[in-house]
Amino acid sequence: MNAIIDKIAKELEQAKARNAQEVEELRVRLLGKKGEITKLFEDFRTVSPELKREFGKKLNELKNLATSKIEDLRKSTADSSTDKKGGEDLTMPGDYIELGSRHPISITREQIVSIFAKLGYTVAEGPEIEDDHHVFESLNFPPDHPARDMQDTFFISKGYNPVLLRTHTSSVQVRTMERTKPPIRVVCPGRVFRNEAISARAHCIFHQVEGLYIDKGVSFADLKQSILLFCREMFGPQTKIRMRPSYFPFTEPSTEVDISCNICGGKGCNICKGTGWLEIMGAGMVDPNVLEACGIDPKEYTGFAFGMGVERIAMLKWQVKDLRLYFENDIRFLKEFENSL
Ligand code: DAH
Repeated sequence: MNAIIDKIAKELEQAKARNAQEVEELRVRLLGKKGEITKLFEDFRTVSPELKREFGKKLNELKNLATSKIEDLRKSTADSSTDKKGGEDLTMPGDYIELGSRHPISITREQIVSIFAKLGYTVAEGPEIEDDHHVFESLNFPPDHPARDMQDTFFISKGYNPVLLRTHTSSVQVRTMERTKPPIRVVCPGRVFRNEAISARAHCIFHQVEGLYIDKGVSFADLKQSILLFCREMFGPQTKIRMRPSYFPFTEPSTEVDISCNICGGKGCNICKGTGWLEIMGAGMVDPNVLEACGIDPKEYTGFAFGMGVERIAMLKWQVKDLRLYFENDIRFLKEFENSL
């Protein structure tokens, strides 16, 4: 063992390298996983206890010698490969920086907004931290509605007009109606929050786009035609829609909208669970109580509203079956959508 240590030490004293690659080769040969010095440390385990002290010291000295020599060589080869005039070597290729990628939720949100922009809708935004008045009260939610329960909503304060995280972007229609006179034509994209356990099909944070159109003489036929145009732009010109009667406190009548399944074309498959239809949004004529609460005369104006989940639309568009993928931001997943806009 002594002999090998001396041999390596001598070699190190005379070691030379012409470039970084040779330094690296030397490092691997001596200190790499299967390197000569590494092996000596393995052999050291079998050295008899009386000799351990002496060999331990020598081995450590050898390792330090190798480390500092390699470091010196690295510096000197790096010096000689840079421009002798003292600057950097400008011919060296730059470091590769992995570019990020557009998020599928942003792509989908932008697509939704740009389709409605063609119909004359502008974008309205509102706060994520809201109050009961804008999220529930003005939208005609009765005081005992389940959405007002802690189980469904994240409350920040209690008492009169509690502060909370908005559970839907319908709050933005209230804010818009409060500050603008009709005609109003807006889409309101944004993040919403619900007290839900996270699973493949549910998340406590997600995104919605709300739509609102208020003017004189707006009818349910206008709603139907606008939704049909949107669905055909989003899911293809063959797309059919159907409207089922439903209930929301802020619309009367209310409807839930389905599109013909974009996978099987309506024949029935495992995506649409054999029905041929996929649910995509809630909608309806704005309830006169809501117009009134926002300072708009329901005798003069009517309007419709609709609301959709962006994750839901994105899942249907790309057949992503697990909602959680949208929140993990694995670059390999995100890159799949790179060329979608
Ligand atoms: N705010 C509803 C929700 O979060 C979605 C919705 C349904 C919005 C009907 C609307 C509407 O504007 O008319 O579930």
